[in-house]
Amino acid sequence: MSRDDIINDPEYGNKAEAFEAFDDIPTNPHLDNTIGAVISRRYGRRDMLRGMLGVSAATALFGTSAMIAPKQAAAMSAESRYKFDELAWGNDTEHHIAEGYNADILVRWGDPITADAPEFDVMNQTAEAQAQQFGYNNDYVGFAEVEPGRGMLCVNHEYTNEEVMFPGLGRQDRSGFEGMTKELVDIEMAAHGGSVFEIVKGDDGKWSVNRDNPANRRITANTEMTIDGPAAGHDRMKTSYDDTGTMVLGTINNCAGGMTPWGTYLMAEENFHGYFWTDTVDADGDPDVSAQPEAASMERYGVPGRWYAWGQYHDRFNIDKEPNEVNRFGWIVEVDPMNPDAAPIKHTALGRFRHEGAETTVASDGKLVIYSGDDNRFDYQYKWVSAEVVTDENSVFGSSLLSEGTLYVARFNEDGTIDWLALTHGEGPLTAENGFESQADVMIDTRLAADLLGATPMDRPEDAQPRGDGTAYIMLTNNTRRQTDQVDAANPRAESSFGHIIEIKEEGGNHSATTGTWDILVKCGDPTIAEVGAEWNPETSESGWFGSPDNCAIDADGRLWISTDQGSNWGKTGKSDGLYALETEGELRGHSKLFFRCPVGGELCGPYFADNSQTLFLAVQHPGTDGTKDFVGFERDSTFEDPATRWPDFDPAMPPRPSVVVVTKEDGGVIAV
Ligand code: FEO
Ligand code: CA
Ligand code: CA
Repeated sequence: MSRDDIINDPEYGNKAEAFEAFDDIPTNPHLDNTIGAVISRRYGRRDMLRGMLGVSAATALFGTSAMIAPKQAAAMSAESRYKFDELAWGNDTEHHIAEGYNADILVRWGDPITADAPEFDVMNQTAEAQAQQFGYNNDYVGFAEVEPGRGMLCVNHEYTNEEVMFPGLGRQDRSGFEGMTKELVDIEMAAHGGSVFEIVKGDDGKWSVNRDNPANRRITANTEMTIDGPAAGHDRMKTSYDDTGTMVLGTINNCAGGMTPWGTYLMAEENFHGYFWTDTVDADGDPDVSAQPEAASMERYGVPGRWYAWGQYHDRFNIDKEPNEVNRFGWIVEVDPMNPDAAPIKHTALGRFRHEGAETTVASDGKLVIYSGDDNRFDYQYKWVSAEVVTDENSVFGSSLLSEGTLYVARFNEDGTIDWLALTHGEGPLTAENGFESQADVMIDTRLAADLLGATPMDRPEDAQPRGDGTAYIMLTNNTRRQTDQVDAANPRAESSFGHIIEIKEEGGNHSATTGTWDILVKCGDPTIAEVGAEWNPETSESGWFGSPDNCAIDADGRLWISTDQGSNWGKTGKSDGLYALETEGELRGHSKLFFRCPVGGELCGPYFADNSQTLFLAVQHPGTDGTKDFVGFERDSTFEDPATRWPDFDPAMPPRPSVVVVTKEDGGVIAV
């Protein structure tokens, strides 16, 4: 299908859904490298049959009695480590939290976050106002505590949905962006990036924004930032507005992220390709980069996506005019939340891909380790290991721990072991003969380098979360493109709509190890439908199972929490996206319980535990947009004037607003104990 076919397909109710479907077309040309094609299956032929014939994994593992899950999670054989009464599944216009908890709105799109910011006026938006107000589509949430009950909240703003953001505009991709103006584009650019602002916990236990802290700031698609690491200053990083290759304006599509152990904020640049434009198209109207000097790189990264009209007004987003600008996006950006004058830094040592997140840990040998997935069908899981150990001296913003070290990509072997393959220039195939002149090339073209190393193409690696004991959890969200002959041990289902979660145990419990073992924790989806092939602990209730894991967090007790992003697929489960408590240990391993659910059409981001796990931050992204044709009683696509929900204000003059929710126990105390 061409890009235009997908844009005009009525199945896709908004631009984000259409472009996710377009990105369904993998750019990885090395799919014959799937380990399933060359080695036997870890779980044997039985799993292959499941993939091909839809034989239920639940039946195979637990017998048919497990397939009709109990309606209540009561009377379980072992005691859940998560002490709360499970929320009932469903979907409606509001958010819901388990009994005994508060889920309060902390900050909404448009709320002023600096002392000088104007109040939000949705009918008279300006870029100048937006650049001082909370941005759109909150994804990652992190917190840099200054003292108990006070600190800097750090929130990514991933993308914008013009059809519910601006009055009278409607969906723009179908019209070639004819309603977009430079003014609207500039508002979009100001609504991207991140927000950093102080929040304070009051005597009543409620958190609120302190907009008067002079360190509060917005980071946007125009914020000046520096570039460090192996690609800094390279010719491929130079543009007409920066002939040094060391300064870039802005960050875009900041999805998940991370906080360093010393409290700086990492923003992951995910779908950067979508912001670049070309006027050069083929007969189907698809972007044609064949005449570009870096055509192979652009094709592997899906550049340019033409999801936004920015390139019509800003030459740097038009590859016909500024072909190198695209090499300056797709990185991990570090921000100092305490110093608003410190320019953010793009760390090129951590590689260039569609970074989903950047979750950090200190390994048992003292090194800094960061896990980051490349969220595309058939792309890879990566991790960074610093050269030096973490010390007081190097625990600073702009640390060499983020520029000197090794980036690895994962190969998941069929015998349950994992090898982390180093992306180091001069080693193995990463040589000039193969097009890599230096480490700068290896980092700018991380995907091409990882292809040559034989990394395992995965089912869309979303967030990855390390735990201090050498364990890491990898969210594989879905991959409906995987064919039966591409099934492998680590990606065990063809046409996977609901994804799975992999648990990695690094060798010796040391996150910097280059080997370890892996296992599948759960295969997601409805366990009562044999064709889905889901695998859960059989005591999981009808409310507890989920589809499409996306973000995750570990609480102060080392327990795992998962948030979901089903996109328009939620109609296949009937469940709004939500937050689930997923057991990783003991008899209940693989047991999941629903704790929070979103208003219709929203995905759940965050989650982030702070305040010794007495506070949980959740981010409800794009409420009221995804799959609203499946919302019974509404059954149409949302617009600004006619949205499926007006969460969280429910004001007839206000569209739905992406917002951060803060969860606390009604009587105080640690969550879920
Ligand atoms: Fe922005 Fe991969 O989710
Ligand atoms: Ca995500
Ligand atoms: Ca997602």
